[in-house]
Amino acid sequence: MQLKKIHNTIFYPCCGRDLNFPINLFGNENIDYIFCDIKKYNNWESVKKLDVSLSFLQMDAWQAVDKLTEINKLFYRRDGMSEGGSGIEVLGNEFLKILLTRFSPEGGQIITDGSNAWGDQLEKLKYGLVSHSGFNISLSDSQKYARDGLITFNVKKQ
Ligand SMILES: C[S@@+](CC[C@H](N)C(=O)[O-])C[C@H]1O[C@@H](n2cnc3c(N)ncnc32)[C@H](O)[C@@H]1O
Repeated sequence: MQLKKIHNTIFYPCCGRDLNFPINLFGNENIDYIFCDIKKYNNWESVKKLDVSLSFLQMDAWQAVDKLTEINKLFYRRDGMSEGGSGIEVLGNEFLKILLTRFSPEGGQIITDGSNAWGDQLEKLKYGLVSHSGFNISLSDSQKYARDGLITFNVKKQ
């Protein structure tokens, strides 16, 4: 009997230069990284030399979501609304409505520091009160990346 390999596609919008951190966190086994930023940074080329499957979408994060086929994880951190930040509420309902349609039917995870989750959105996410496009988001029992200031949410088909 052949065991089905679990494959993960991780989408990181508004990544800037922050490539090595997620690669070190999640590794390179059966993972495809899709990094997105409206600007191209000078370390993008050097990371291509690593033994990692990755692609770059140099475009607006809203446009990038349209290009995604299927993802298993959203990684998102250290963004903001002021100068230098994208101003995109990636954890807000409007963005999630579209993003969740790109999640695998098997669901997946959102790993984030809670950037750009305004008002009570982060609390709603933690209490499992955010559902869109047939998926519900809830706090994961395993907060594996808490030491890095990251919250893990499960994305599950309703
Ligand atoms: C505050 S930086 C955070 C970068 C990265 N997350 C980190 O931890 O270092 C915000 C990034 O969002 C990018 N950005 C701005 N507007 C954007 C947009 N409309 N779509 C995608 N990225 C955008 C900027 O170029 C910048 O690299």
